[in-house]
Amino acid sequence: MKLIIAMIQPYKLQDVKKALYDAEVYKMTVINVLGAGQQKGYTETYRGVIDEINLLKKIRLEIAVNEDFVEDTIAAIKKGAWSGKIGDGKIFVLDLPRCIRIRTGEEGSEAIG
Ligand SMILES: Nc1ncnc2c1ncn2[C@@H]1O[C@H](COP(=O)(O)OP(=O)(O)OP(=O)(O)O)[C@@H](O)[C@H]1O
Ligand SMILES: [Mg+2]
Repeated sequence: MKLIIAMIQPYKLQDVKKALYDAEVYKMTVINVLGAGQQKGYTETYRGVIDEINLLKKIRLEIAVNEDFVEDTIAAIKKGAWSGKIGDGKIFVLDLPRCIRIRTGEEGSEAIG
């Protein structure tokens, strides 16, 4: 199992949701966050003197999947979130050792899917 964490532009959430739906990925957690990447939160057109990090509004998606859904999930996020401009986002893929469905006590691939 993997936990896929994606940081995306808020205006791309609808496109990413649609791409995930098309890939039959329906379970997700969506969180509003603040973040900065390698531009320190400023655009390339910014002309001022930068002496602090400027945090921008981002969406953090968390999706736990079985191994056979990992690549399709990544591809869907890439497809939905891509504009080709700075700040398009990033995808982190983490190993996920356990998952438990509280209602039934199921574990692992049955609980996740
Ligand atoms: N190394 C990192 N650690 C933690 N969060 C990160 C990291 N890189 C990016 N993020 C998060 O992802 C968001 C989007 O990052 P962003 O797309 O700007 O990455 P980037 O490396 O600056 O790439 P680009 O040059 O395409 O903008 C950031 O606002 C931040 O929330
Ligand atoms: Mg950036």
